[in-house]
Amino acid sequence: MPGVNIPGIDPSRIPNHIACVMDGNGRWAQRRGLKRTDGHAAGEEALFDAVEGALDLGVKWFTVYAFSTENWKRPADEVRYLMGFNERILRGHRDDMASRGVRMRFAGRRDWRVPKRLLRLMDETVEMTSHGRTMTFTIAFNYGGRAEIIDAVRAMVDDGWQGDKITEKTLRRYLYDPEMPDPDLMVRTSGEHRISNFLLWELAYSELVFPDVLWPDFRREHLFEAVREYQARERRFGGVDPGDAAGGPPG
Ligand code: FPP
Repeated sequence: MPGVNIPGIDPSRIPNHIACVMDGNGRWAQRRGLKRTDGHAAGEEALFDAVEGALDLGVKWFTVYAFSTENWKRPADEVRYLMGFNERILRGHRDDMASRGVRMRFAGRRDWRVPKRLLRLMDETVEMTSHGRTMTFTIAFNYGGRAEIIDAVRAMVDDGWQGDKITEKTLRRYLYDPEMPDPDLMVRTSGEHRISNFLLWELAYSELVFPDVLWPDFRREHLFEAVREYQARERRFGGVDPGDAAGGPPG
């Protein structure tokens, strides 16, 4: 069984879904006197080592934040670089992902700013990996948590939903990927303690871990360490710890 041989990790409590904010590429590059885009290039190895780590753990859903709806505000040459970079990443890794049983999906707005070629490549990638059952690897691209909620509300209005009939379950059906379970664990690198508009609906009860490492230096061992921290925490989902419910001290 995957995950059993990782020291300090309980294989019966592996998070079902881990989401990552890949932050710190620019700072990594600056510290080395390199261009910000060199930092993104170095982030590719970190990304696929993290994917390997998620597979080693036996995680079923792994999601990364690759480009936000706000990242269009970055310098034009960086944005242009990131479009081409994401295309190269897909071309370079999708065959391997398909052969490993990794199903790839994308979450985000398909607006006019995303090059048509990249959208086509994303569609092909989803199609060619659709039979994968080992893990679902989602790339959040031109993604914003607020945009996702707005898009869901717009689609509900278009479908004629009456306000008082809408429940959390209804809204969930209109999110970008209704099948995607909420992340159990969200990891953001680089020491920044922010969500930055990532999976706002879905992260409601996720455990948040902030490793103090810049994304290009992130490796699967950092992911394992985040899972150890996750396993040391107690999730209550707004309820009480079963020990307290049984008559423990108040608190
Ligand atoms: C959120 O911080 C972080 C992201 C949206 C990740 C952006 C990542 C990349 C552009 C690089 C992708 C790397 C690979 C390997 C594909 P923010 O900077 O958007 O928000 P903030 O200003 O609140 O920190």
